[in-house]
Amino acid sequence: MQDSALKILVTGGAGFIGSAVVRHLINDTIHSVVNLDKLTYAGNLESLVTVSDSSRYAFEQVDICDAAAVKRVFAEHQPDLIMHLAAESHVDRSIDGPGEFIQTNVVGTYVLLEAARAYWQQLDESRKGRFRFHHISTDEVYGDLPHPNDSVADGDGELPLFTETTAYAPSSPYSASKAGSDHLVRAWHRTYGLPVVVTNCSNNYGPYHFPEKLIPLVILNALEGKPLPIYGAGDQIRDWLYVEDHARALVLVATQGVNGETYNIGGHNEKQNIEVVQTICSILDELAPRGAGAGSYSDLITHVSDRPGHDRRYAIDADKIGRELGWTPQETFETGLRKTVQWYLDNQPWCQRVQDGSYQRERLGAGLE
Ligand SMILES: NC(=O)c1ccc[n+]([C@@H]2O[C@H](COP(=O)([O-])OP(=O)(O)OC[C@H]3O[C@@H](n4cnc5c(N)ncnc54)[C@H](O)[C@@H]3O)[C@@H](O)[C@H]2O)c1
Repeated sequence: MQDSALKILVTGGAGFIGSAVVRHLINDTIHSVVNLDKLTYAGNLESLVTVSDSSRYAFEQVDICDAAAVKRVFAEHQPDLIMHLAAESHVDRSIDGPGEFIQTNVVGTYVLLEAARAYWQQLDESRKGRFRFHHISTDEVYGDLPHPNDSVADGDGELPLFTETTAYAPSSPYSASKAGSDHLVRAWHRTYGLPVVVTNCSNNYGPYHFPEKLIPLVILNALEGKPLPIYGAGDQIRDWLYVEDHARALVLVATQGVNGETYNIGGHNEKQNIEVVQTICSILDELAPRGAGAGSYSDLITHVSDRPGHDRRYAIDADKIGRELGWTPQETFETGLRKTVQWYLDNQPWCQRVQDGSYQRERLGAGLE
């Protein structure tokens, strides 16, 4: 399947991960891309300027909840595959306003599934056989895992990891809405036979990440001498994956994954939030020192009240995708984080332009509204 050129409909292709997928598809494969994106605050076509002139790239500004518009896109572009990334993705925003998350993540996925099913059913047998609906999801659907501080380990002293068969137990409106969409996708496979693959990935970081998320927020606040907020003690553990490694994994699953299967994707990089922030500060101390007498960027670290319902630990067992599809991440946390910090140092104008006035790095999701 990977040998022939495919037309791939990418939803959410102007977002952080979606734009990495689109850049990878255009730069490193022979496939064509139709980017379907509503362009919410999180979607930025500037993240695609390096590839948007390609004759293999097309853009459709469409809301996935708009059934008629989605149907038109299928009819006009005749895709071979769908990679569905469009979502509301920020946990703190989901605490302040869950409605948009139910609408886009649950209702929007339903609308897309129905459009895909109607389209798939009328394809000829050979195109029908290779069609896939690839649903991109998160490890947050699994809830959280025991933390080393809880002293809950198995007989070998190992802490458990999320596998493809871990039971769902989402904690936030965001993760609950993603869990709902995962269930819909699997139900459309089981009930209607729609060919699907699902991936659940850990926390991503890298270039073009909207500045409300931890890593870009810390880099940009540090450069402006602003406080670096740490929720609670900062001992929450996340399993970090460089976004370009995720993009490579996604294209591999979309084109070579087995129909009906789920693949967990992660970087084997469990880090406490405080450790992530301290590492960013020491890279910045080296690459962009604060100046004589100003001290280290780590002096700006400020502890703030924790997020309500904050999951304590996520960690992915990514053995299946490695064993079955041969994927391994190319970046370590250290190399990926250094590249990321350097990218933000080199791309300050992008950062200024995506913060259009509606978001100024203020605290969201304290659960106080
Ligand atoms: N960021 C992570 O660490 C992470 C980890 C695992 C999985 N995921 C999943 O990957 C996907 C992409 O995440 P991201 O971080 O790139 O998100 P993002 O918020 O950066 O981008 C989301 C994109 O979807 C678009 N969008 C939102 N609502 C839409 C709608 N109704 N119709 C059409 N387009 C719409 C936005 O304009 C934006 O371009 C999401 O499904 C998310 O759940 C993210």
